[in-house]
Amino acid sequence: MDTKQTRVVAIVNEKGGVGKTVTVINLGAALSRKGQKVLVVDMDPQFNATKGLGVEIDEKMLTTYDLITDDKSISPEDSILHTKWTGLDLIPSHVDLAGAEIELIDEEGRENRLAEALESITAGYDFIILDTPPSLSLLTVNVFVCANEVIVPCQTHPYAFGALEQLFDTINTVKEEINPDINITGIVATFFDKRTRISPRIMEQLKNDDRYKDLLFDTVIRVNTTIAESADVGKPVVFFRQSSYGACDYSNLAEELLAQD
Ligand SMILES: Nc1ncnc2c1ncn2[C@@H]1O[C@H](COP(=O)(O)OP(=O)(O)OP(=O)(O)O)[C@@H](O)[C@H]1O
Ligand SMILES: [Mg+2]
Repeated sequence: MDTKQTRVVAIVNEKGGVGKTVTVINLGAALSRKGQKVLVVDMDPQFNATKGLGVEIDEKMLTTYDLITDDKSISPEDSILHTKWTGLDLIPSHVDLAGAEIELIDEEGRENRLAEALESITAGYDFIILDTPPSLSLLTVNVFVCANEVIVPCQTHPYAFGALEQLFDTINTVKEEINPDINITGIVATFFDKRTRISPRIMEQLKNDDRYKDLLFDTVIRVNTTIAESADVGKPVVFFRQSSYGACDYSNLAEELLAQD
């Protein structure tokens, strides 16, 4: 019997626009191309991961909103969509998810809703990759309760460091108070542009900082317009244009992640 534990990976940074969603979509796709069975779970009301995987929400679909607000009458299995790409599944998000925090305000155990919903389907996957909104809301806390790994995309831009420090503090609190099994397993530098002065400087800072250097992936995600283009047409870049820098960088990141096993 295969007893290999599913890796449940949250992609988190409270800072907006740092490449979280693009990392969810493309790391997920790159892993599936390498034969891994992957489930992407979109926990952001902006539903960019859902769009980036080419899925248009219709009213019949069950979403993460239903999973966390439902009183257990729906089966989580029914919320899984198979994307056009083999081995790459999705639980989509819905704009209504933005209201879930208010709706659940009086509910006990509201931070455990997602973990409870995913419990019965987790074993069917090698990887579950969760997208999060750029805030520390109940939605992100739900993600922290079910994840065993956190990968932090760090934009190689000014102010990236401050956000990182804050995030590490947050995860430490989460580990102490709600999920002792959670660990930050990687920092991935994003939006790298060697022609600028700031990108290489931030890289140097990351490599020389005792708090971060051992967590830093060797793979660096370069600025690449094909990444943005592919998200816009609803295709992961590894399927949209295999020869692009974006496809190459995310394939390398997937390779590194697999080598950690
Ligand atoms: N390496 C890259 N090169 C070029 N464009 C990129 C790259 N990574 C992401 N983008 C683009 O930058 C924008 C922000 O990326 P993304 O949506 O992944 O960030 P995010 O952290 O998920 O943002 P939010 O916090 O709003 O959810 C998107 O338009 C995306 O297509
Ligand atoms: Mg996003």
